[in-house]
Amino acid sequence: MARFEPVLLRNRGVENVTALRVYESRGGYQAVRKALKMSPDEVVEEVKKASLRGRGGAGFPAGVKWGFLPKDRKRTLLCVNADESEPPTFANRVLMETDPHQLIEGTIIAGYATQAQIAYIYLRVEFHEQFHILQKAIDEAYEAGYLGKKVFGEEYSLECYIHRGAGAYVCGEETGLIESIEGKRGWPRIKPPFPAIEGLFRQPTVINNVETLCCVPHIIERGADWFTSIGPEHSAGPKLFCISGPVNAPGCYEAAMDITVRDLIERDDMGRGMVAGKTVKAVLPGGASMGILSADELDMKMDFEDPRKHGLLGLGTAAAVVIDQETDMRMVLRNLARFYGTESCGQCTQCREGTGWMYKIATRIAEGAGRIEDLDLLIETARNMGMMPGLSICGLPDGATYAIETIIKKFRAELEAAINAQPPGRAEAVLSVLN
Ligand SMILES: Cc1cc2nc3c(=O)[nH]c(=O)nc-3n(C[C@H](O)[C@H](O)[C@H](O)COP(=O)(O)O)c2cc1C
Ligand code: SF4
Repeated sequence: MARFEPVLLRNRGVENVTALRVYESRGGYQAVRKALKMSPDEVVEEVKKASLRGRGGAGFPAGVKWGFLPKDRKRTLLCVNADESEPPTFANRVLMETDPHQLIEGTIIAGYATQAQIAYIYLRVEFHEQFHILQKAIDEAYEAGYLGKKVFGEEYSLECYIHRGAGAYVCGEETGLIESIEGKRGWPRIKPPFPAIEGLFRQPTVINNVETLCCVPHIIERGADWFTSIGPEHSAGPKLFCISGPVNAPGCYEAAMDITVRDLIERDDMGRGMVAGKTVKAVLPGGASMGILSADELDMKMDFEDPRKHGLLGLGTAAAVVIDQETDMRMVLRNLARFYGTESCGQCTQCREGTGWMYKIATRIAEGAGRIEDLDLLIETARNMGMMPGLSICGLPDGATYAIETIIKKFRAELEAAINAQPPGRAEAVLSVLN
């Protein structure tokens, strides 16, 4: 297969590229100059034509989202979602630390297209180094006149601030993020109204992921047709993929969305195969929340369509974790259940209690005190707490549902065998203590 010419990561490894002059020497800040000569509506139309789908997890088309803003609005705010808290996901981090000006350029273009006055970059709190890199780049952009009053000497003005989170998964959810920037507990809001109508400080607000915004300068510079020429229909443009677990070269790689999970693991310009002595048992291909694949599903395409055909929620963050043959799936089940149980914000009864109970049940299975009926109990709990059945405010429990249910469906034989191999009477003994 021909090697993919990196677009989003083209500056990775270039010496001192976090400095504005180096970024500019490589063609940076040309796209924004071009965008500022277009009308805001023309920029929105170009992004719509490119069919740029959001990279934050849901895959919603960015241009369409920008078009939801009320025409008669007085103020517009832009939030850059740099919370990146989905387990094994680190593509936004790589983008911010290797090429911060690319994100700033995308932010200015999106700000101009939506006529935003202020952009807030909501940054995951653990990103200390990235905070300093990004802040320095923002300061340089202000000094050069690319941010602040009359950007690039044009009529348009944009202020840009970094807002550091406090370490909660749910603050990556767009309305949890809004509440957090407002200085409140990061509790997601009931929708509608959607942020485009009433968002941050009750103003019309656009929220986009870091990677989504990093695609924007390239669309403006090279055109929507170039963007749609990359990758399969409905999954246009360059995409970052993360891979971790026992592969020889874990990392963040760029490709079109026609690659498969197997490519990601095996290709010599990606994961370079499993480490010696390990074989693939399962893969969580889209972060934790999309569900799991078994070893015979590795030919699934990493695009916006194929994951659904494998019973998954979607492409998610396109961050794959490989699980090897020696891993006990009871531990995977417990690990994931613990994540959702501890990250639920607790506002909705079904999510708070459901994720909590799933963690308890998964724990007793992991500790060798499970019962066969616990597997169906987990599925029943998982199906009765999410936003999709209309029982909760945000999508966190739907992620839990897909993670837990797909493990049980695809690895039921192993889980049942482990439960059946427990010493007789253990489940009853543990349950009597718990009760
Ligand atoms: C529990 C939860 C956590 C989320 N975390 C993130 C996150 O860390 N980063 C992100 O970009 N989107 C996250 N999202 C999705 C956002 O709500 C939103 O869809 C996204 O930021 C929109 O950007 P995009 O359209 O550019 O993808 C999360 C959603 C949920 C339900
Ligand atoms: S669904 Fe869960 S995480 Fe989302 S708002 Fe409700 S309780 Fe909080």
